[in-house]
Amino acid sequence: MLVYLNGEFTSRDKAAISVNDRGFLFGDGIYEVIRVVNGRMFRLEAHLLRMDRGLKGLEIPFSASQRKELVSVMEKLVVENKLQKGEGTIYLQITRGAALPRTHAYPSSDTPPTVMLMASPFVPDTDILEKGGHAITVPDIRWSRCDLKTINLLPNVMAAQEEKKRSAGGVLMVRDGYITEGYKNNVFAVFDGTLWTYPDSPYILSGITRDVVFEIAKEKGVPVKLTPISEKEIRKADEVMLTGTITDIQPVVSIDGRRIGVGRPGPIAKMLQKGLRHRMDTE
Ligand code: PDD
Repeated sequence: MLVYLNGEFTSRDKAAISVNDRGFLFGDGIYEVIRVVNGRMFRLEAHLLRMDRGLKGLEIPFSASQRKELVSVMEKLVVENKLQKGEGTIYLQITRGAALPRTHAYPSSDTPPTVMLMASPFVPDTDILEKGGHAITVPDIRWSRCDLKTINLLPNVMAAQEEKKRSAGGVLMVRDGYITEGYKNNVFAVFDGTLWTYPDSPYILSGITRDVVFEIAKEKGVPVKLTPISEKEIRKADEVMLTGTITDIQPVVSIDGRRIGVGRPGPIAKMLQKGLRHRMDTE
C-alpha cells in the first residue's frame, strides 16, 4: 500500500510523522474522506472546498499550488493502489505541522503543514443498506465547531464504541433534546413525504452526501425541511436514514429498540439509494 506524506510516496508501514507534529500533540488538523468508484473520485471538488473552509477556519496556511498538487497525488494513489476498478476511499489529512517547543498557540506561519494521503479498497455494507440498521441515541458531547472536519474525533470514537458494544447499526447524537447527526454521517427523517434534516450550523458537518440527497430530492420533487428534529419527534417518523461518504444511504429501522415506521427501509430511502448509486456510477 503506497501512501503520500509531505511530498513523497512511501509504503504505508514506512511512512512516519514527527513526535512534534501538532496533529499528534493537539489534534490540530483537518481531514477528508473521498469515495472512489471505478477510479473516479466522487464529488472531489466539493470535498476540496470543504477542506479549504476547514484550513481557513483553523488558519492553517496552505497555498494554491499545494492544493493543486493534491489532485495529482490522489490520481497517482488510485492507480498505484489498483483502485481503477471497484470501490475505494481516499483519506486526506493536513495538520499544522511539527513545531517545537510544544505551545498551544499556533507556531510561526512558515511552519510547513503535514500532508498525508492514502487510498484503500472499500466494501459497502450491503446487508445493512438493504435491511436497515437498529440505531441507538447517545448524548452529543462534542464542541461547537462540528462544521469543521477536524481530526478531534474522540466523542465520535466513543459513540462508535457504544454502537459496537451494543451491537447497534447506527448512532444518533442528541444535543439539547434534538438529533444533530451521526458520528460519521448526517441524519434525515421523513414525515408525510417531506425530508427533514438539521440545518447547516456549527453543530453539524455539512456532508457532501447530504448535498447529494438535497439534489436527488429536488429532482424527484420531494420537499426538504431544514429543521432540528427532536428526539421525541423522530420516533414518530415514517422513515429515518443516515447519509455519508462511507455510509451511503443507510435506513434506520429502529431507534433504541423502538420500531420506525413499518420497521423496514422505506420508499424514500430506497429512491435516494438508487439516485446516489446512479450518480456514483456515472459522474
Ligand atoms: N465522516 N457528519 C460527521 C460527523 C462525519 O464525520 C461525516 C463524514 C458526515 C458525512 O459527511 P460526508 O457525506 O461528506 O461524508 C457527517 C467521514 C466519512 C469519516 O469520518 O470517516
